[in-house]
Amino acid sequence: MHYYLFVNFKTYEEGTGEKALSLARLMASFNTGEVDIIPVCQAAGLLLISQSVPLRVFAQHADPVGFGANTGMILPESLKSAGAFGTIINHAENKRDNDFVKKAIGRCHGAGLKVMACAESLERARQIAKFSPDFLAIEPPELIGGDISVSTANPGLICDSVKEIRKINPQIIVITGAGIKSAGDVAKAIELGTSGVFVASGIVCAKDKEYALQTLLSGFPANKQSRSKAEP
Ligand code: G3P
Repeated sequence: MHYYLFVNFKTYEEGTGEKALSLARLMASFNTGEVDIIPVCQAAGLLLISQSVPLRVFAQHADPVGFGANTGMILPESLKSAGAFGTIINHAENKRDNDFVKKAIGRCHGAGLKVMACAESLERARQIAKFSPDFLAIEPPELIGGDISVSTANPGLICDSVKEIRKINPQIIVITGAGIKSAGDVAKAIELGTSGVFVASGIVCAKDKEYALQTLLSGFPANKQSRSKAEP
């Protein structure tokens, strides 16, 4: 089984500009290959970060548009050429309807990007699974940014989502998000059947980011190597 630690830089100051690059470099220093550590960057920082660190980098959003007159939209091909490996769609802080999500997944796949779609509920996860994203993150909005993880507050939601999504499309990789702060939260997310976690404040806003990363990585099973920093 392969595991994932997605770190969403959002628009936090610590996830912007030079600070975003430092954070991505710190993440890369923990990259042992046991867990895929994925910075989820602001679009403006993608090119620099993707050229500076040996990690698969995701964008935070893409629009279902093609080349042409679409001022202000985020073109999937543009993300790809900036070095993105994939993108998030329908994050709780940038919600879209199913029509948008379906079209955006199709456009991103057409541009060669992986997609992690987010779902706020079991019902939404069922609907979005039919559009075959590569990853589906279950994130109850009320727990985002808090100190109680979804794996503790609502383990049933995670278990049920894993079961339902597998029935619809067993290829989809299910990820747990919202309020993940400790190694125990990560371990629980894996125990409930998901392949990793989607974290923001627990790392990006942590005073000691190195310690936060090390702590969360230690929650992955049999991840002895990533308990300490990788050799440069
Ligand atoms: O994108 C991940 C996110 O929404 C979870 O945020 O701060 O609860 O880890 P946070």
